[in-house]
Amino acid sequence: MIWNRETRYTPYNDWPTETLNDLRKQVKKSKWRMNHHIQPDSGLLNDPNGFSYFNNQWHLFYQVFPYGPVHGLKSWQHLTSNNLVDWHDEGLAIKPDSKLDSHGAYTGTAIPVEDKLFIMYTGNVRTKDWQRQSFQNGAWMSRDNKVQKMSIPLIEQAPTGYTSSFRDPYLIKQNNKYYAIIGGQTNSEKGSALVYSSVDLKKWKFNGSLNLPEDISGFMIECPNLVFIDNQPILIFCPQGLDRKQLNYQNIYPNVYSVADAADLETAQLKNIGSVKQLDDGFDVYATEAFNAPDGRALAVSWIGLPEISYPTDSENWAHCLSIIKDLSLKDGHLYQNPVIETEQLRINEQKLSTKKQIINLDPTNGSFEVELTIPKDTNLDLSITNQKQTGDLKILLDSTKGQVTIDRSNTGHSFGEKYGQIRSSQVTAHKALKIRLIIDVSVFECYIDNGYSVITGRFFLDDLPSKLELETKSSDAEGTIWEWRK
Ligand code: FRU
Repeated sequence: MIWNRETRYTPYNDWPTETLNDLRKQVKKSKWRMNHHIQPDSGLLNDPNGFSYFNNQWHLFYQVFPYGPVHGLKSWQHLTSNNLVDWHDEGLAIKPDSKLDSHGAYTGTAIPVEDKLFIMYTGNVRTKDWQRQSFQNGAWMSRDNKVQKMSIPLIEQAPTGYTSSFRDPYLIKQNNKYYAIIGGQTNSEKGSALVYSSVDLKKWKFNGSLNLPEDISGFMIECPNLVFIDNQPILIFCPQGLDRKQLNYQNIYPNVYSVADAADLETAQLKNIGSVKQLDDGFDVYATEAFNAPDGRALAVSWIGLPEISYPTDSENWAHCLSIIKDLSLKDGHLYQNPVIETEQLRINEQKLSTKKQIINLDPTNGSFEVELTIPKDTNLDLSITNQKQTGDLKILLDSTKGQVTIDRSNTGHSFGEKYGQIRSSQVTAHKALKIRLIIDVSVFECYIDNGYSVITGRFFLDDLPSKLELETKSSDAEGTIWEWRK
């Protein structure tokens, strides 16, 4: 398939009916399909959308272009879950089939309002001469998961002074009023997060552009989020084109966060906003969506994939996945991320680890497991994850003297995104005992360091399923546990 403007934006109904079935059959055969991470049946998955709790269930949607591993005509795929771990596919929820979203039902969020779920998303529209129009649209989902789009946009265009790069509304309710924080760009190409308010979810008023930490913005801000932990607002966002002198990042675009003391959305002000930090020290996290769940937790889910980069699964006509669901907490102004407790339901076949050097062979037909290690102070770790034939490996190293955890994916066999480097590190306290929790699910790893102080996430592609671990510590023994994950 040649992916040009025409093929990328072909309306779904114009594709031959057998195309999707053929693609899905091909994708099913891939050795890189994960057991538990949310992935597309075919085509490209990107941002998580509409993460919410409604009608006694968790709801999660994602951006998808089902016809190929490229960014094309996007829609919202819908999933539901009772436990944040096992997800049921509910099919396409928002299709790009109206005048208000003809070139893509782009990213947005959802909140329950009475007995319905209110969805706000960006309708991407291109005029005949390919000028971009960005409508902020509304839709209502009823308890039987039927979505009804509103017939006129909630916000027709960006305010004066801003370009049509205007998308990804983040909905939030405060003091009986609704707010939407929307990613945007000024006419002089500075990224912004624009705040709107509404009392009836129909009429929206522009309140202003959020003050950003250290004036950090790049040329565009995508996917702004505002969650509250212990009453402190945390702004999570994706600044594109951010100067690497302002933040030392290696990915094409970073996903960052900043903690403030208070948020006044009427005046679009974040009080005492702290410096910007990377949300994930790894290779592939972007477009994280977070929300305050009714059970009191602040939950997050990330797209594991990056814009503008090819991945090895492209040749199999699918790309990317979502992270497992993360529980956010705050300590000393730092954001901690950990897998939600429900993730432990996946554990089977527990084995204890406690030697300096060990080789562990796991079920070679599974590919999904979890390792938790407690490494004593002044001890270095050298861990490699490989397939049975050992044709490549993913390395996880701890240098206790430097206080550095490093993940090296240069020798996994199927490299990609080399331009952005094959090694990533997280800084931890030197000479200190450390806990590392590593999740491996076939072709994705999520490494939670020091009880979630930092995370290194990425995709990796071995010749066949990861099922062998080689672990060595110097000079003390590491204590730990390894579990396979149920299939
Ligand atoms: C971020 C993003 C959003 C946009 C969506 C389109 O990855 O570019 O800004 O709404 O993807 O799929």
